[in-house]
Amino acid sequence: MSIRIGEVIGVQGIRITLRIDEDSNHEVLFYEGQKYKGVSIREYISIQRGFRDIICIIEGEYLDESRVESSNGKLGYIRKVEARPIGFFDTDGFQQGIKFMPMIQDPAYLLPESKIASIFDRSKAGDNFQIGKMLKEDIPVSLPWRRLFNSHIGIFGNTGSGKSNTLAKLYTVLFNNKLHSIVGKSRFVIIDFNGEYTGNQLAPNTEKIVYSLSTRPLKDTEQQNNKSVFPLESDEFWDTETLSLLFQATTNTQRPFLNRVIEGRRRYEKSNDSINAYAKKKFRDAFCAGQPKAATLDLMRTIARVANNQELIQALKNVNWHSLYSKFFQGNIYFNTDGSEYDKNILTTVDSLDVSTLDAFDQLIIRVNLQLIGDLINGYVQFDHIQPLLKRIESSLVSLRRVISVGDGVAIEKLVTVISLRRCNNEIKKVLPLLFAKHYYNSHRHTVNTPPDKTMHLIIDEAHNILSQQSNRESESWKDYRLEQFEEIIKEGRKFGVFITVSSQRPADISPTIVSQLHNFFIHRLVNERDLFLMDNSISTLDNISRSLIPGLAQGSCVATGTAFELPMLLQVDRLPHDKQPASEDVNLEILWS
Ligand SMILES: Nc1ncnc2c1ncn2[C@@H]1O[C@H](COP(=O)(O)OP(=O)(O)O)[C@@H](O)[C@H]1O
Ligand SMILES: [Mg+2]
Repeated sequence: MSIRIGEVIGVQGIRITLRIDEDSNHEVLFYEGQKYKGVSIREYISIQRGFRDIICIIEGEYLDESRVESSNGKLGYIRKVEARPIGFFDTDGFQQGIKFMPMIQDPAYLLPESKIASIFDRSKAGDNFQIGKMLKEDIPVSLPWRRLFNSHIGIFGNTGSGKSNTLAKLYTVLFNNKLHSIVGKSRFVIIDFNGEYTGNQLAPNTEKIVYSLSTRPLKDTEQQNNKSVFPLESDEFWDTETLSLLFQATTNTQRPFLNRVIEGRRRYEKSNDSINAYAKKKFRDAFCAGQPKAATLDLMRTIARVANNQELIQALKNVNWHSLYSKFFQGNIYFNTDGSEYDKNILTTVDSLDVSTLDAFDQLIIRVNLQLIGDLINGYVQFDHIQPLLKRIESSLVSLRRVISVGDGVAIEKLVTVISLRRCNNEIKKVLPLLFAKHYYNSHRHTVNTPPDKTMHLIIDEAHNILSQQSNRESESWKDYRLEQFEEIIKEGRKFGVFITVSSQRPADISPTIVSQLHNFFIHRLVNERDLFLMDNSISTLDNISRSLIPGLAQGSCVATGTAFELPMLLQVDRLPHDKQPASEDVNLEILWS
């Protein structure tokens, strides 16, 4: 049946010792037309126990010191190997797990490569979902795509280890094989921090829409090629949650404040009263309230400036605060609570204020300032708690306006949506992915049936940009909020058919809650101790031998493990053809400097 190599001479726990016949010490053997690998570390052998073949992996090899005399009188050594069972073949094929143990004197055989392949290749006949070959055996294997794509996937490895290639290969093969049966049922959204997927990658251009967002002004040529602004619907923008995350509002005071802004807008919309009337009322309150507040003057000035109303700007310049009387004055005119001075001196100027034609972003500035005027006068809030929010809104609007539009159509729906943030500043890179994740998660969640009749796949390359726990540039509470949002998607998403694929060069920095929720992993070369420690601790399916190989993996080699795989598998991922490769190639100095 196969090449006999020796027999079991010891069983201790799950550790099996075998005596190996000396002459089977070759690297490759051929027997009856089948190819076999010789006995060495990390190879597989089969031990016959009744009608079952117990499959073991070889983990150690040594010589026994005692000499033996063989039948022809020559002296020799006994070669021993240690092995660990990983599963068995019975009439149903390969079963993973230690259920049967060999006994002393059971014979051991080499495994033909075709049989090794059948241990790892658990796909159905004709699946042909190949992204590469088994590293050592060089046998192509088909991945169990059914179980892989309905799980959260992690792709880890140092920079340049081949993560982007693996990620792209995975989805390229998926779309090559299944494009027609997927379109209309599933959507794939790629958050692309480095602009690696904006060309021909992944799917045919007819099925792909690219948003290349840029916080820098675009050159004309760039504008034509891609969509450069992501359209949000008005309702989605005027939403407490959206505004809170765009402007990193704190939960305790700033978020309730934004909520009042949104609620106020909603009420006004219904009563058909215009934002202008609202503004004029608040100006009057600011001057004539029972207890006017000094801080409201600055807010009114901001409104005049944003509305670009020169007359009003000028008028407010001449207004001052009298701290002893606690009221505003202009020259020798004091604005009293009865409003008579206001009516005489300011009213007509304020009446010229028109903010109704401003775009959504400017209207937002107007509304938050008006809200704060009202809240200050009523003593609802402390100026110092809200003012940082207002400053943040004003300062981020310049870049925000370049990358999103409000009430200007809806995002185009294609099978694959790539959102490139390559040309965005750091602040936008932190905030927008969360917005997009929410956008797609919510829109999917609200239209899906149970059980899910369609799926949404959120793919984040270089995910440490947003899932990292170490970051001292942002406030703790905002960081918690950001991570919580993703944790929710990853925990709850499965129910709605939302799946996440994350790739990262620094897995140890990613929130452990997120890593522990991932089901399947492609682990490329990692050398950092902390990363390896994390792999050890959060991936239950990773075995010691595979783990020990991770620091030494070559470009494109990875350990594939997780719930979709029976056993950890060493894979050499195929390199994609040039035009399908992620645009991440190392700089070629030989060409550059020639
Ligand atoms: N499977 C592979 N086989 C051969 N070379 C590869 C493979 N994957 C990546 N490379 C090489 O490594 C470089 C970096 O790969 P990339 O996928 O961008 O790594 P990462 O995303 O981990 O930084 C690629 O430009 C390519 O030259
Ligand atoms: Mg990459």
